[in-house]
Amino acid sequence: MYLGLDLGTSGLKALLLDAEGRVLDSAEAGYPTARPHPGWSEQNPADWLAALNAAVAALRARRGAELARLCAIGVSGQMHGAVLLDKAGQVLRPAILWNDSRAECEAAFLDRQAGVRETTANPVFAGFTAPKLRWLANAEPNVFAAVATVFLPKDYLVCSLCGARVSDLSDASGTSWLDMATLEWSEPMLGLSGMTRRQMPKLVHAAEVVGTLRPAVATALGVPKGVAVVAGAADNAAAACGAGVIDDGAGLASLGTSGVVMLARERRTPDPARAVHLFCHALPGRWIQMGVILSATDSLNWLARLLGQSAEALAGQLKSPPDGPGRLRFLPYLSGERTPHNDSTVRGAFFGLDVGDEARDLTRAVMEGVAFGLRDSLEALRQSGARPTRLLATGGGSRSDFWLQTLANILDLPLDLPRDAAAGAALGAARLAMLGHLGGAAGAIMTAPRIAGCVEPDPRLRGAYDNAYQQFRKIYPAMRDIL
Ligand code: XUL
Repeated sequence: MYLGLDLGTSGLKALLLDAEGRVLDSAEAGYPTARPHPGWSEQNPADWLAALNAAVAALRARRGAELARLCAIGVSGQMHGAVLLDKAGQVLRPAILWNDSRAECEAAFLDRQAGVRETTANPVFAGFTAPKLRWLANAEPNVFAAVATVFLPKDYLVCSLCGARVSDLSDASGTSWLDMATLEWSEPMLGLSGMTRRQMPKLVHAAEVVGTLRPAVATALGVPKGVAVVAGAADNAAAACGAGVIDDGAGLASLGTSGVVMLARERRTPDPARAVHLFCHALPGRWIQMGVILSATDSLNWLARLLGQSAEALAGQLKSPPDGPGRLRFLPYLSGERTPHNDSTVRGAFFGLDVGDEARDLTRAVMEGVAFGLRDSLEALRQSGARPTRLLATGGGSRSDFWLQTLANILDLPLDLPRDAAAGAALGAARLAMLGHLGGAAGAIMTAPRIAGCVEPDPRLRGAYDNAYQQFRKIYPAMRDIL
């Protein structure tokens, strides 16, 4: 048996995988996010450990016999967060998360420095780790002076499980401290945050066994002693492992809180000028290229909140299949945007509102606007040489037939729907545990999911959606001129 733990933004998911690679069960426990000031987003690492205990306890209640045969644990987690420890290993302050925008100015400063984009193969986005430490040096100098170790969220969890002070390359790629050519921590990049290599965990591959479960943790979780722990991977790389996105050009489109178009690559293909993310994959010698929009289901949830309805109820008012784009345009930049604009100050917009518009017109515009944002990401990936021919559709938004067909039409690509869309990063983490424990070829474990169906783009509507996309593209530069 293998256990995958995904330390997400809203909760921790524990997933049990058997030796044949079948998902047996999963359980989730949530934790709060504190937003003490505008733009801040923090979590208490102690809450993650409590959620770990709660999720495993729920699993144990149903699957005690299987958990007693546990061999290895793999972890995946939200990227970019900073967990700061002193020299006694105590947490110094709440963790600063990926969706925290307090370090906008520090990110812009770092992004301007010569050699940063070349070394790290990415722009320095406000959510990345390095700007957070620059912010800390200035705003909380006493805390900064006491920092002995900087962990990414899942690396803190791994250390709590087995005592290892490690980070894997997929997660390290999102710090702005990794030299993406040598795959070592970069002294000059660390120096720009006032840091040294001594504060950084040892770099390892995601499927490497890095320790065994601490006896006290094994007792608390009610699992056998001697369980191996692998380093694990960033949530996006782990989701790719869970979805079998391994070979060059294979990819997925995710309608989650944020929206992602992700492709596996066998060559290193940086394109920071178009705000394309390039991270190490969880498997050596492979890469992940992503376009990220910050508000996907977040945009629909925002509208639902304002209209006093659930997102499902709003989506339910739209009849599928769509018969072409609506007249109203929506720019989904509610929290700024990463790909392709790398603009943390821009905000969203409706364009073309009419006195006759109703809730369903706004809902449709929001869904289309998110899909146009993802088309921007797809075009950015294409311009850096990728040629995807189909994508796997994942994330909560893919449960809406209307949204899914709209996305297929706007991307003009067939979208495959996995049977178990919810498995995601936790499945990838469990598969990494299995690979670390058994060894052998990754391809045999990281297989593509069983497909429940495929949504084909409607060729009759291609021209209409293309025209609407061209209009969408013209709005951002015009708006930027005004802001
Ligand atoms: C990726 C990113 C998000 C987080 C969410 O760059 O910021 O996908 O990893 O968990």
